[in-house]
Amino acid sequence: MLIARSIPELRAALAGRRPAFVPTMGNLHAGHLALVHQARPLGDCTVVSIFVNRLQFLPHEDFDSYPRTWDADCAQLQAAGCDVLFAPRETDLYPEPQTFKVQPDPQLADLLEGQFRPGFFTGVATVVMKLFSCVFGATGGGTAVFGRKDYQQLMVIRQMVRQFALPIEVVAGETSRAPDGLALSSRNGYLSPQERQEAVALSQALRQLCDRWTAAQAAGTLHPAELEQQALDQLRARGWLPDYLAVRRRLDLQPATPGDAPGTLVALGAARLGATRLIDNREF
Ligand code: PAF
Repeated sequence: MLIARSIPELRAALAGRRPAFVPTMGNLHAGHLALVHQARPLGDCTVVSIFVNRLQFLPHEDFDSYPRTWDADCAQLQAAGCDVLFAPRETDLYPEPQTFKVQPDPQLADLLEGQFRPGFFTGVATVVMKLFSCVFGATGGGTAVFGRKDYQQLMVIRQMVRQFALPIEVVAGETSRAPDGLALSSRNGYLSPQERQEAVALSQALRQLCDRWTAAQAAGTLHPAELEQQALDQLRARGWLPDYLAVRRRLDLQPATPGDAPGTLVALGAARLGATRLIDNREF
């Protein structure tokens, strides 16, 4: 596995190849590795980036304490068959203040995650555009793999690629889950043993919300706001601080209505358990 620390090194390594790219912020777990395995047959060179992107953290968030596990990440990527690891220093990716930003459509980016983390998707879109330029700039295009766990992020990136006509195919990877159903996430590492046991309640609440929605829709008694409130109350009663639990249309993440067809919806949630903020979603 070649480790490229700078953009020229990366471009030299990739010239003439067709990369399949998985961007990450490191602290890799089985969910990331599943994306790497998914990427491998999609190009002739599997590229993973590790870069903790300051631009997508709010001032009070965990940029400084975000887990950085370089040696373990390298070993896992090597074993997973990654060909090139791109791990730029901050001064390589942002040699001057990144004042020029990619501004996603507020209709998509200012709701759900964007409502509770203002500026988050601008930070994500800006770094992903820059990573795409680094990885695909010398190759004429390729494939990029993003996990469905970050559902809204995947939609923002897809819209960015479409609207800028980038020569990149965006492929979605399924959410990897622990045996109890908890979605794998680097932030799960912040949970105490007790919190880790409780953490599955978020995915359970989303599953129940989907089931109740489907049953009420079939019975003709669906009141979306009531069901969402019930799910929020249920988590609050267990000691969580939910930001949102909502059923949205997969197409544009706008609020779902009783007339929306089954199979076109997604339930999304974000909630704080102790000091840890978790997100998850279920399509139904
Ligand atoms: O999903 C992530 O890990 C990050 O948001 C990404 C896409 C690597 C951009 O920093």
